[in-house]
Amino acid sequence: MTETVHVNLPGREYDIEIGAGVLDLAGARIAAIGGRGHVAILTDETVGGLHAASLQEVLRGAGLTSDVLALPAGEATKSWPHLERSVEWLLEQKVERGDVVVAFGGGVIGDLGGFAAAILRRGVRFVQIPTSLLAQVDSSVGGKTGINSPSGKNLIGAFHQPSLVLADTSLLNTLPKRDFLAGYGEVVKYGLLGDAEFFTWLEQYGPALAEGDMDARVRAVRRSCEMKADIVERDEKEQGDRALLNLGHTFCHALEAATGYSDRLLHGEGVAIGCALAFELSSRLGLCSQEDPSRVRQHLKQMGMKTDLSDIPGYLPDADTLLALMGQDKKVVAGQLRFILSRGIGHVFITSDVPKDAVLSMLNDALAQR
Ligand code: GLY
Repeated sequence: MTETVHVNLPGREYDIEIGAGVLDLAGARIAAIGGRGHVAILTDETVGGLHAASLQEVLRGAGLTSDVLALPAGEATKSWPHLERSVEWLLEQKVERGDVVVAFGGGVIGDLGGFAAAILRRGVRFVQIPTSLLAQVDSSVGGKTGINSPSGKNLIGAFHQPSLVLADTSLLNTLPKRDFLAGYGEVVKYGLLGDAEFFTWLEQYGPALAEGDMDARVRAVRRSCEMKADIVERDEKEQGDRALLNLGHTFCHALEAATGYSDRLLHGEGVAIGCALAFELSSRLGLCSQEDPSRVRQHLKQMGMKTDLSDIPGYLPDADTLLALMGQDKKVVAGQLRFILSRGIGHVFITSDVPKDAVLSMLNDALAQR
């Protein structure tokens, strides 16, 4: 089963092809994009070790030569030194304006590779081949590229849309379970933010999907990409609705900062906890029913995911400090914290009108349960 989602941005439109084995299409699809017939592949050492030879073989089958740069796996690679190394390598590879760069990996490689492509010769085309669930449903789609700065995450970057996304769901089989479930946090986010029926479907099929049911995986990735494409088409540069994709992220970014961006809390885990907190806050403010946050938590627990602050190991700062960390989020506008809150599952909205005391009292209660 292969599904295609089209991202309809005039002049920058592209397809996302989703399915078990779509990696096999890479040669034909990349050859069709054009270029000199030589492909530069950026990957990480883990993904490269597992899958780069297969990708190069498929490219060879379509008459394309390729070279691979495998960077260290992990968030630290999204940095100036590795960007410099990647761009210089691409120049050594003599990548020209018409050529194609492939970003083959999870969110780190997709963001870094996309940014390298955005700034090389003022922009060359690139193809995303995302290998983690998080990258397949979120970071490979929509053109956000960039690196981290010592001042914060994702603070340096550019919007640069890929020419094609190939999301091969069979590559998820080699993903550690914890990483898979962290990516699933972003999948749940789509149901919660805009499609109650999808959330209900996830409640039923989420466990099978985690166990490896390929049809369920394809369907979940497809629906997530459709929803993301729809929002990106309305608001490519995040002037409005695209911020809805940040459901759970204000809390998540504070928790990631509080845990030092370490493996105590993966990004997708923070998103899942953040979604539960956003629903809890919405319910306390009388915006949605009390059942909604319980239902969100119940599903996350059913999936064996981190759900509450008590699931984060080690020290966490107090509520005031967490609130201050939220204020450092780059999505703060004119000093005002923006929250994505909910009027029910599938119905969220953006607001700056949230009483500080309500946030503090909810965080205090959540911390007290630790
Ligand atoms: N990950 C949020 C966005 O792409 O806008």
